[in-house]
Amino acid sequence: MCGIVGYAGPNDTVEALLNGLRRLEYRGYDSAGIAVIDDTGGVAVRKKSGKLVNLEDLLTASPVSAAGTGIGHTRWATHGGPTDVNAHPHLGDGGRLAVIHNGIVENFSELRDDVIARGAELASETDTEVVAALLGLETAAGKDVETALRDVAKRLHGTFTLLAMHQNEPGKIVAARHHSPLVIGLGDGENFLGSDVAAFVASTRRAVVVNEDNIAIITPDSVRITDFAGTEVSFEEYEVEWDAGAADKGGWSSFMAKEINEQPEAIANTIRGRIVDGHVEIPELTELGAERLQNIDRIIIIACGTASYAGMVGSYAIEQWARVPVEVQLSHEFRYRDPVLSDRTMVISVSQSGETMDTLMAVKYAIEQGVTTVSVCNTQSATIPRESDAAVYTHAGPEVAVASTKAFIAQITALYLIGLHLGRARGVLSAEAEAAAVEQLEALPEKMVEAVATHEQIAELAHWMADTRSVLFLGRHVGYPAALEGALKLKEIAYIHAEGFAAGELKHGPIALIDHGQPVFVLVPSPRTSPLMHSKVVSNIQEIRARGARVIAIVEKGDTAVLPFADEVVRIPLTDALFDPILQVVPLQWFALELSTAKGLDVDQPRNLAKSVTVE
Ligand code: F6R
Repeated sequence: MCGIVGYAGPNDTVEALLNGLRRLEYRGYDSAGIAVIDDTGGVAVRKKSGKLVNLEDLLTASPVSAAGTGIGHTRWATHGGPTDVNAHPHLGDGGRLAVIHNGIVENFSELRDDVIARGAELASETDTEVVAALLGLETAAGKDVETALRDVAKRLHGTFTLLAMHQNEPGKIVAARHHSPLVIGLGDGENFLGSDVAAFVASTRRAVVVNEDNIAIITPDSVRITDFAGTEVSFEEYEVEWDAGAADKGGWSSFMAKEINEQPEAIANTIRGRIVDGHVEIPELTELGAERLQNIDRIIIIACGTASYAGMVGSYAIEQWARVPVEVQLSHEFRYRDPVLSDRTMVISVSQSGETMDTLMAVKYAIEQGVTTVSVCNTQSATIPRESDAAVYTHAGPEVAVASTKAFIAQITALYLIGLHLGRARGVLSAEAEAAAVEQLEALPEKMVEAVATHEQIAELAHWMADTRSVLFLGRHVGYPAALEGALKLKEIAYIHAEGFAAGELKHGPIALIDHGQPVFVLVPSPRTSPLMHSKVVSNIQEIRARGARVIAIVEKGDTAVLPFADEVVRIPLTDALFDPILQVVPLQWFALELSTAKGLDVDQPRNLAKSVTVE
């Protein structure tokens, strides 16, 4: 959700904050703002609704000079609309204290009544301003910011990362974390705070994760962490693997275009080092112990959105190779259904960011129930992998576009690796099946290059479909979640009504939607490796074609069976049916991107969305 950056150091503070915000904007872009201790020693604030560029324009028109301490925020609105007044930072203590916040303070109306009764005047509708007012009352009463924040944090319910600075304590930023991410960047004579490492990776790759219910205090040359009771806690430094360049657009028209092109590498990096002598070996799973893996009698994959579709694709493969029943549940539904769990259940969470609150809460619930938890995650040291029994990282590199592409592909790849590892560990995977799957996996990066090359054909297709108002997607088996993903991409970035269906479900209702000219993408399974499914899908194509649908068939090379019934045929390389969706989804990603572009929309930052959803 919101992006947060803090800087304590001798350099141009405004520039340091803007650099951080540029890399964090994907977390929310309803408004942006900064507060610095300026050269006069007072707190100066600049904030503006809309994207970061509006704040940059404001800073050009109304510059501020500072070399010392500052905090910056990019907002995804929760309490109060995306207006200038509601933008962060918010002030307290007569404008001497500035605060930014990521999360939701659930008891804010009760706190609001309290601060108003104590004489505070509030200008915005936000929960954050109430926190700033509370903190201001404490510092005005003589507490230092650290003590004030510690006392206030204990009164807040909900989720928060809070950063606060006060002009009476220049050079210092105090931060609190409760169910919301916070990392420290360790520089040379300067230190940073961020909601993720993107906030400072251009300046330093030395990072420290601030743990749950801790307070961090940074100055240019010191870092301290305490718990909410004030007891000092030790911390460990780690090296960020991503380099700053990986999070730059690097000449591409959009981050999404760049990230679609990076998919061959994302697969190769996720597989790398995990296939040894023809066997899949994931050390993080081995460490769970052979007995534990053998005893697993049920797997539940939890995730949201695109990650849940990756989970659905993965569920077919894990069940096939590991012979364990696998089901997929949306994280935000999981704990409310009172799921039947035991110490033989494995819960696999799938999350690119590793911070999605719905998934984090579901994982915490699973941990409380005593099940084995495995995290599939793309973000080093994020909360979900840290909380889980085992973390299987995808190595897709930073994903900046809000619409997930390469992370989705890497998640499926990781789940396939998990399926193969479990199959072997449980002694149920035949040598032939393992060899065949490993061969397919190893060949995927190269085939992905070909799938990515469908761009040109899709761009042309999207060109003549720019006015389309509704698109349907059909798939069967693993093609079904891929169809759901194609529809989600289109909704997300082209704002077009789109739906994905299991092809077999069509006759049970959705076929009524088919009218003359209705575009339908059909993901056709491989006729070589799944002839039965292939023939069923070809029949489905005929059924919709007979009712006027405009059919765009995604087929493997050499499949001629669909030619008489398809208006457009997009060809992908040959692979086994189980691997089809990994390649078939690529033209669908391109289609969404091209349609969004044709409509003049912002491909990377679609309206109302944010990359990392850290509120429930
Ligand atoms: C859609 C998309 C979202 C995410 C979902 C989960 O393109 O990216 O649907 O997949 O919000 O996010 P993570 O994977 O970070 O848990």
